[in-house]
Amino acid sequence: MLRLEEAPLTVAPAPTLTVSGLTCELGGRTLLRNAAMTAHPGESVAVTGPSGSGKSTLLSCLAGLHRPRTGSVRVCGTDIAALRPAKAAAWRLNTLGFVYQFGELLPELSALENAALPLLIAGKGRREAYGRAGRLLRELGVGKVADSPAGVLSGGERQRVAVARALSTRPPVVLADEPTGALDEHATDDVCALLFGLPVQYGCTLVVVTHNPVVAFYADRQLTLRDGTLHDATGTTGTAVAGP
Ligand SMILES: Nc1ncnc2c1ncn2[C@@H]1O[C@H](COP(=O)(O)OP(=O)(O)OP(=O)(O)O)[C@@H](O)[C@H]1O
Ligand SMILES: [Mg+2]
Repeated sequence: MLRLEEAPLTVAPAPTLTVSGLTCELGGRTLLRNAAMTAHPGESVAVTGPSGSGKSTLLSCLAGLHRPRTGSVRVCGTDIAALRPAKAAAWRLNTLGFVYQFGELLPELSALENAALPLLIAGKGRREAYGRAGRLLRELGVGKVADSPAGVLSGGERQRVAVARALSTRPPVVLADEPTGALDEHATDDVCALLFGLPVQYGCTLVVVTHNPVVAFYADRQLTLRDGTLHDATGTTGTAVAGP
């Protein structure tokens, strides 16, 4: 008979993201109503919803950039509402990576300088920052444009550099807001393959908000934001959406 101390332990990894009871109003409209979700390390989640449904607002709440009226957001065990503003900025720098629709790179800086920027702001030395950023650019297939000003890059190259920048501090959570919104079909496929491969390659949690069902299809799990509530892909209303 198996003694207790010999029994194999199967410990589920703690969620990186736990959102519960989120209610948020903007411009006199209730955008989020008791929204809830969880996500785990190595998992990708896509949130879809029509334009104006509150997807970007949801990401702002997840990043602690917008304070919801009720509810809580815990990222890697930290209740972000409890962070003081000065601490929140440093915490955000090390915990979250962001990818936006147009990359939002600084056009006059090179791809390498853009990708290294979060590390330099975090106080890393130039050698370490540029070394890590250069490695990431090569891994993501844009090593050749490392010295080019970001302003001359193609949309697909720009998004790859933006992904490198998002990963530079090795954050446990990457948030992407319409990351392929400015790309053609071919570049969309390329960037999706890259983005949704990140949780497998780096063990991070990826949350992508998009109105594009083709993009959402790449995710491990799909949620829809409807009437302020997050529903899973099967249409079930959830105050808690189970992880893997
Ligand atoms: N700071 C603000 N003040 C007032 N209203 C706002 C503010 N920010 C967003 N809104 C409104 O909240 C609604 C939801 O905006 P949000 O950007 O979250 O939508 P979205 O789902 O991301 O849309 P899209 O797909 O077009 O990006 C919109 O109607 C928007 O006009
Ligand atoms: Mg948006």
